[in-house]
This record gives sequence, structure tokens and C-alpha cells, in this order.
Amino acid sequence: MAPKFLQLLLVLSFQLRLSFSGQTSVMESVPDLQSSMYVTVDGYPCVRLLNLSGEIGCSNPGREKVVAPIIRLKDSNELSQLSAVLLSVEEIEIFFARILNDTTFGRNVAGVLVESGPESQNKLKGFSPALKFPQSDFAPYRSINYEWNPIGSGIMWNTYNFPVFLLSQSSTLTLQEAALNNEKNKKSYTADVAEFDLVMQTMKAGTHDSESCLKENTCLPLGGYSVWSSLPPINISSSEQSKPIILAVASMDSASFFRDKNLGADSPVSGLIALLAAVDALSKVDSVDDFDKQLVFIVFTGEAWGYLGSRRFLLELDLQSDAVSGLNYSLIETVVEIGSVGKVLNQEAKNFFVHTAGTSSATNETLDALRFAKDSVKSDHINVLSANASNPGIPPSSFMAFLRKNSLTSGVVLEDLILPSPTSSTTVTLMVYQI
Ligand SMILES: *[C@@H]1O[C@H](CO)[C@@H](O)[C@H](O)[C@H]1NC(C)=O
Ligand SMILES: *[C@@H]1O[C@H](CO)[C@@H](O)[C@H](O)[C@H]1NC(C)=O
Ligand SMILES: *[C@@H]1O[C@H](CO)[C@@H](O)[C@H](O)[C@H]1NC(C)=O
Ligand SMILES: *[C@@H]1O[C@H](CO)[C@@H](O)[C@H](O)[C@H]1NC(C)=O
Ligand SMILES: *[C@@H]1O[C@H](CO)[C@@H](O)[C@H](O)[C@H]1NC(C)=O
Ligand SMILES: *[C@@H]1O[C@H](CO)[C@@H](O)[C@H](O)[C@H]1NC(C)=O
Repeated sequence: MAPKFLQLLLVLSFQLRLSFSGQTSVMESVPDLQSSMYVTVDGYPCVRLLNLSGEIGCSNPGREKVVAPIIRLKDSNELSQLSAVLLSVEEIEIFFARILNDTTFGRNVAGVLVESGPESQNKLKGFSPALKFPQSDFAPYRSINYEWNPIGSGIMWNTYNFPVFLLSQSSTLTLQEAALNNEKNKKSYTADVAEFDLVMQTMKAGTHDSESCLKENTCLPLGGYSVWSSLPPINISSSEQSKPIILAVASMDSASFFRDKNLGADSPVSGLIALLAAVDALSKVDSVDDFDKQLVFIVFTGEAWGYLGSRRFLLELDLQSDAVSGLNYSLIETVVEIGSVGKVLNQEAKNFFVHTAGTSSATNETLDALRFAKDSVKSDHINVLSANASNPGIPPSSFMAFLRKNSLTSGVVLEDLILPSPTSSTTVTLMVYQI
């Protein structure tokens, strides 16, 4: 299946270099000079993302390089000049809130460098750049102020006209040294500066939406390929395919403020692994041909970006395209979504919460099956519980895209925790959200 539907795009081409002052060595060529002046720093950039009508994320203000001295912001510190600000992960949220609130302060931010290191992970209570209710537009209910992700700051959904980098651990040390140098040399005229070279911008002026930048080939599409498979295999040349379908779904990726630094292990990837384990177990059963139901497994791409994968899948079904040949929408009896299920391992009582939308006999059968599965494990510690009745409905999930197409779709979403617990979130640095 080729999800050609794009909502957001990213544009990247980045380099971050540090220029050191006050160093002397013998130089014989321009490259010598360059290598003595510059240290190339590695890290993960926040990139510009475009959709049909707007942009989010980070980029240089114009097409020029940004060069600014590196400083560390102390409490209530003002910025007296254009600066590259070094921040710890704990400071991100307050810093970005201040930028949005205080334009004078924001004007002096040339770039932001975020430290990473083992110690910052330990201190972290949990940092989430996603919204408190990720993708609430898709909620099949009105309580869109419900906080599925209470620690969410939403900073990844704003637009910043300066570059932002998450530093690698070794680069963090280099930058900390540079900031310290600048602090010491305050009265002298030298400073270590960060140079952000052509950071994350569209190659041509005026391509501020996905349609124009795609047309001009100056950006890349977001998302990838969703994958589906069935058990037993569906014979597409046979017209007898008529068993009701149980669709088991999971997500394969997550989104993050810093591109390529998505720690989604707790959220989507735990569900993906659980689904693959189930497929593996079922593939060893001889009698799959005799099942009353047709099993179909799907792993969606780009769900964190407006449920790209599931919406594309539903569109392909509508179009009856080759990508979904053998599948028939009206035969889908129920959806079983595996969300975040990895955190139970760290807990004594292993609680799985089943979220449902409406009641139907198919949903009841799934609930019975889950309880049956629990009993078969013969462990007192594993519990399959109905989600808290005070929830407004199902948590953010691909199932929302199915309900948007047909609000009577039956299905369940399995999750491990309703809210992040203080003990488990300490190991998570940059998750999108956890449920
Ligand atoms: C595009 O992104 C902007 C910024 O996040 C958002 O306000 C707008 O609704 C989005 N437009 C579409 C068509 O998704
Ligand atoms: C924004 O600024 C106002 C007035 O300066 C202040 O009262 C408020 O607390 C600030 N909000 C944030 C999120 O910093
Ligand atoms: C698929 O169905 C066609 C038509 O019913 C049949 O001829 C063919 O043998 C089937 N293939 C398999 C692998 O079962
Ligand atoms: C899908 O299944 C329904 C119900 O069995 C049937 O009426 C319809 O013709 C099927 N559609 C296709 C394209 O096979
Ligand atoms: C599903 O189960 C609930 C409680 O067990 C029951 O009240 C309800 O009638 C059932 N619904 C259907 C459609 O079977
Ligand atoms: C259900 O949610 C409410 C409100 O968030 C909370 O007070 C209550 O303790 C929860 N119940 C259970 C069983 O977790």
C-alpha cells in the first residue's frame, strides 16, 4: 500500500558548526584554517514541516547562516544580544513558553541547543512536546480538553524562525565548554560562536506549503508505507472471500520535536512488537483455514501526523485499489488496536485497559476473548480491565480514523496505563505521548 496522502512535509539540509576563538596553531592552507576554527557538532534538528495551509517546526529566519555566541540562560536572565542558547531538557518547556509570550526576548534567540546526557534522563520527570490531547480533531466525542497526555507541552506544533538542535552526548560536552568559556571571557572581545548553516529551510523562497514545495521538489513527503497481511492468506482470484474480518492494527512510528530522535519504544513500538508476536504465534496454528473469521493485520505509518496511514488505508478501500485487493470494507467486523503495552513489564500488577466505543456483539466477543486469554496465562498479576468509565471515550488511536469514517465501527483499543506513572516515565526522554 502506498500512502500517497500527505499532510505534512519536512524540509531539511542542515549543518551546525562551532567556531572557536583564541586558538593558535600552525596553518598552511584554507582547510587547515577551517579545521582549526570549526568543530562540527552532531545532533538532531527540529525541522520545518509543511502542510497544505501552514508550517510548524524550525528553520533559519532567511537563507543566510546564523552565527551567534553560545550562552547558557540563568534564572530570569535576559538576552542582551543575538545568542545561541544552551538549554537542558528540563528547561525546554519554560523557555519555549517564554518565547511565545515575550517577543523582545524571542527576537534575541538566534538558535537553541538542547543538551543530552545520562544525568538529564534521570532528572527528567517526562518531557513531551506533543499536545495534552494529541490529534484531538479526530476525537469522536466533544471533550477535547481531556488530558490524555498531561505532561504534553505542545511545543512541536508551533513555528519557530530559528534553528533548534538536540545535541549528542559528546557534543553536549563541547558546547558546555564553549558556554563556560564565554562566561569567563565576558569582558574580552572573543567568543565561541555557533554557526547554523542553511538550516532546514525550503530551497526556494515562497514555498511555504506542501503543495508548492512538492511540486518544486524542494521537500520530502512525511510518512512511509503501511503494511498489511492476512491469515490465512487471502486468495485474490477467488470470489468466495466472505468471512467477516477481524482487523488487528498497530502503529510503526511516532513523531518528535527532534527529527530522528523519536523514542517511541513505550508508545507505538511496544504495540507493534505485541502484534508481531501474536502473528508469529498464530502462524504456527494449523487450523487457520477453519477459523470462522478472516484475520487481517495492519501496521500503519505516520499515525502521529493526522493518522496518515489509517486514513490512506480507508481511502484505498473506498477506491478498491490494488493495494488492498482481496479486502472488502463492508466485511470488517471489528478492529482490535494494540496501543502502548510495554510498560506493564515494570509493574507488579500488570493492568491492560480495554477502551471501547459503543457496544456491539463484536466488541463483547473481543472483550470475552481478552478475558479468556488472560485466564489462559494463569498468572494472578495480569489483569484485563475495562477502561475507567470517567474517560470521555477512546484514547488517541488509529481507531479514531475508523470511527470518523463510520461512527458505528466496532472495536477496542488495548493500552497498558491510562496515564504516565511517575516511576515509568523517568526512563523516557523524548516521547511523543504515552497513554
Ligand atoms: C496546517 O498546519 C497548521 C499549523 O499546525 C494548522 O493550523 C492547520 O490547520 C493545518 N492545515 C491543514 C489543512 O491540516
Ligand atoms: C505571559 O506574560 C504575562 C505577562 O507578562 C504573564 O503574566 C504570564 O504568566 C506569561 N505566561 C507564560 C506562559 O509565561
Ligand atoms: C484461488 O482461487 C482460484 C479460483 O477459485 C483457484 O483456482 C486457485 O487454486 C486458488 N489458489 C489457491 C492458492 O488456493
Ligand atoms: C463486499 O462485501 C459485501 C457484503 O458481503 C458485498 O455486498 C459487496 O459486493 C462486496 N464488495 C466487493 C467489491 O466485493
Ligand atoms: C454486551 O455486553 C453487555 C454487558 O456484558 C451487555 O449489557 C450488552 O447487551 C451486550 N451487547 C450486545 C450487543 O451483545
Ligand atoms: C477514574 O477516573 C477518575 C477521574 O480521573 C479517578 O478519580 C478514579 O480514581 C478513576 N478510577 C479508577 C478505578 O482508576
